[in-house]
Amino acid sequence: MTDSDARAARKAADLEEVLAGLALPQKRLSPKYFYDERGSKLFEAITEQPEYYPTRTEIGILEENIEAIGDALGTGVSLIEFGAGASVKVRILLDHVPGIGVFVPVDISGDHLQAAADTLALAYPKIEVLPVTADFTRPFQLPSPRVMPDRNIVFFPGSTIGNFPPEAAQELLTTMRRTAGDGGGLLIGVDLKKDAEVLERAYNDEAGVTAAFNCNMLHHLNGRLGTNFRPEAFAHRAIYNEDEGRIEMHLVSRCRQSVNLAGQQFEFAPDEYLLTECSYKFSLEDFAALADAAGFAVDTVWQDADGLFSVQYCRTTN
Ligand code: AVI
Repeated sequence: MTDSDARAARKAADLEEVLAGLALPQKRLSPKYFYDERGSKLFEAITEQPEYYPTRTEIGILEENIEAIGDALGTGVSLIEFGAGASVKVRILLDHVPGIGVFVPVDISGDHLQAAADTLALAYPKIEVLPVTADFTRPFQLPSPRVMPDRNIVFFPGSTIGNFPPEAAQELLTTMRRTAGDGGGLLIGVDLKKDAEVLERAYNDEAGVTAAFNCNMLHHLNGRLGTNFRPEAFAHRAIYNEDEGRIEMHLVSRCRQSVNLAGQQFEFAPDEYLLTECSYKFSLEDFAALADAAGFAVDTVWQDADGLFSVQYCRTTN
């Protein structure tokens, strides 16, 4: 399949998915549509908002515990990052964990990935950097490094695991278990359950960056698939659903309106909610059970002093 065939197939699959999501009684769109170029920039800006604690807290945990993390990872390590975003977090590991000989960033966006990999290869000449362009939710082939590593460690920071519904999260962890192989491990960022107020503030920042990020999904879909959403006719709303243990991001229709896509018309009532993202939060027990079901045992948990966020090292079990 050529690159352009692959792009056309992805677009057709997206069209089908969006049509199906808009036809549901509770309309929903996948959070993957947040991330066009503007969306990725807005996400970076979210991570700098004072209310959005996860990014800076996770970086603090990594920095404060880097020696113990290095001991847990060991030597002869091939570090495989699922989804390669900003390199800040992985650089903390590459700077301070001498046991890492190979770094494999895996991401669906090939151009961005290659540029980031080139920069890292220059900065870390002793580490073999082998980027893989792939959808990490599906099985993919690992590259062959010059020197065979002793162990594969999957790195999945940011609590992105929380953006997957429980069943999909378990499937993804099972894919990570397969990638880690026997004797491997997983270093993962996991956002913790906490006061609903703190959570809701984090997803409703005062500067309105999360609101712009949420509405940008509609601009993105207009450009990519030809919907005729009027982004200004929707309001951002993020609420903590205590029963489900998740933040839900919605776009709320400000009026009665209709949206067209591929010859189909979708009606929105005033105040109707369109679900764009769930961000699950975990207790330590919740995550341990999820990891266990996928063939991992939690070995060490590092947290910040306020217990907002955790970085967890999991060993493979058999
Ligand atoms: C990428 N992911 C872990 C973020 C989260 O917190 O669930 C996405 C996000 N959505 C709104 N703010 C940040």
